[in-house]
Amino acid sequence: MKKNKLVWLCTDCGADFPKWVGKCPACGAWNTLKEYTVRAEEPGLRIRKDKPLQDKSPVPLSLVAGDTATRMDLLDGELNRVLGGGLVKGSLVLLGGEPGIGKSTLILQSVVRNSNLKTLYVSGEESPGQIRLRAERLTDADAVEHCLLYGETQLETIMETALDVEPDLLVIDSIQTIQTSRSDSSAGSLSQVRECTAALLSFAKEYELPIILIGHITKEGSIAGPKVLEHLVDTVIRFEGDQNHQYRILRALKNRFGNTAEIGLYEMKSDGLRQVTNPSEMLLSGTQGDLSGSCVGVTIEGIRPLLVEVQALVSSAVYANPQRSSTGIDYRRTNMLLAVLEKRAGFKLVQKDVFLNIAGGLTIQDPALDLAVLSAVLSSNLDLPISREICVTGEVGLSGEIRAVSRIQQRITEAEKIGFKSMILPADNLHGLEVDKLNIRLIPVKQVGEAFRVLFS
Ligand code: TYD
Ligand code: MG
Repeated sequence: MKKNKLVWLCTDCGADFPKWVGKCPACGAWNTLKEYTVRAEEPGLRIRKDKPLQDKSPVPLSLVAGDTATRMDLLDGELNRVLGGGLVKGSLVLLGGEPGIGKSTLILQSVVRNSNLKTLYVSGEESPGQIRLRAERLTDADAVEHCLLYGETQLETIMETALDVEPDLLVIDSIQTIQTSRSDSSAGSLSQVRECTAALLSFAKEYELPIILIGHITKEGSIAGPKVLEHLVDTVIRFEGDQNHQYRILRALKNRFGNTAEIGLYEMKSDGLRQVTNPSEMLLSGTQGDLSGSCVGVTIEGIRPLLVEVQALVSSAVYANPQRSSTGIDYRRTNMLLAVLEKRAGFKLVQKDVFLNIAGGLTIQDPALDLAVLSAVLSSNLDLPISREICVTGEVGLSGEIRAVSRIQQRITEAEKIGFKSMILPADNLHGLEVDKLNIRLIPVKQVGEAFRVLFS
């Protein structure tokens, strides 16, 4: 008989090692290795032998049916798009996010409004009564018969019930509350979470039942983390945003069945999450004219162009070390940009505190926002407002050069649609651009200095 094996598992990256070490050799994180027992026996998955299983014999590629017909419409445009065009049958999807961000709301509102889909909603966190109360805010709860609520936490019982009820979709809220008898540690521990997910993966594949797992994740990404589950599941989507703002972004971090560049945008309302179809208008709606320290940048998130307002505040430093703070923009990139400003444009920022913020609580990764960040900082420093009719896009290099950005045509179209009169863009982006039919004036620049002259003179 095989013996159980003891390994050390990194809670950050999921790699395992035969011995404990202080620093994970795979990802370099400190003090993340936890003890974990690998069971020797075969997973006792086949709960019901009488249920037909998929035929597992090898098939020539030419005879394998494509998966186009096996996607399910979740009646939520943003969610469908992030999943790559709907939920694939038999796939295991992990929805991660900080507590309270709206994961349960997102899934619940999609399943209760979708009467074509019989859903088994397993909740280990809230009682069916509490879920009913929440569902009443989202839809006419009396009319919902296709969604079965189930307050169970024992994995084997859940699987048995799923086989009896035969739902089209199984939702587990959350994976940290479920436990299996195959592991003797407490619910939410690393080994329980991993064991349950592995069992659910085979279950999904064997019975072609799509499963959505909800998992809590902390700011650092650990706590018996969905992180360690990321390579077990087919798709990882994350719901992020600032709890104090109403906007939420749904991002695909991994997708075996689609593109990870897609994002979905939502707004949290009193009756659930509303899809945001014109994000730029929404993000710019609160801006007032003629305030210094604000600049509108044209970015691309996923494949969607997005106009965002960068806000900067530059003030005299009180302490010997000037403060630098940025919300929604990478801190190191901010420091690099400030150094460029100092060196290439001759502005002395050493004695200044700099605070940066993206309006609306979004986090932007697109480097094309660089020029907007610098312009906002400079605008605040000089106390000169930037015209509300101009927007900028461009990545800034270390020597202050403005580098070309991706998908320029889309960015221009979006800025034009929102009603901007002119747009500063990298000169290198002008090649092959159809400019004659545009209703917006394009101002190509090669260096940060040229852009500043346009903005501040
Ligand atoms: P929830 O989905 O419970 O978060 P999670 O499952 O990620 O922990 O959402 C929690 C917050 O959403 C809660 O603070 C209340 C708010 N909310 C609304 O603003 N409107 C609504 O219609 C609902 C259902 C929740
Ligand atoms: Mg929840």
